[in-house]
Amino acid sequence: MKLLILNGPNLNRLGKREPDVYGSKTLNDLESFLKKHGESANVRVTMKQSNWEGQIIDWIHDAENSYNGIIINPGAFTHYSYAIRDAVAGITLPVVEVHISNVHAREEFRKESVIAPVCVGQISGFGFEGYLMGMDYFIRREGHGTD
Ligand code: DQA
Repeated sequence: MKLLILNGPNLNRLGKREPDVYGSKTLNDLESFLKKHGESANVRVTMKQSNWEGQIIDWIHDAENSYNGIIINPGAFTHYSYAIRDAVAGITLPVVEVHISNVHAREEFRKESVIAPVCVGQISGFGFEGYLMGMDYFIRREGHGTD
């Protein structure tokens, strides 16, 4: 199985950015953590990050023929990008939305995701573990043959 993990704006600054909210680990740490988990479950993980909305949209479109699913942390685009929502809605791949912080325990504007309604679901507040939970969803789903 091949999974695409997409990270949106400012997530390249993990480790430096608001460590009290997002922790002290970097995006590279996240990638090694997920790749290691992937290896143990025979899942090939590709992780990408962009600060640009259009780039994320292109990656979503291109994923359709190359991956079995997408895990996306859209960063602040979560709360207002109808374009990313439409991109997710327009592909047949299952998509899981992940947030490092608990978006429901923060500012009002973070409580709404315009993307989550077109995803399988949203995982929020479990730090890097949330991505792992997203991966486990795909692994278990595959194992049970459910669609
Ligand atoms: C975030 C939450 C968003 O509200 C914020 O804009 C981010 C990170 C998270 O992972 O907790 O950039 O997606």
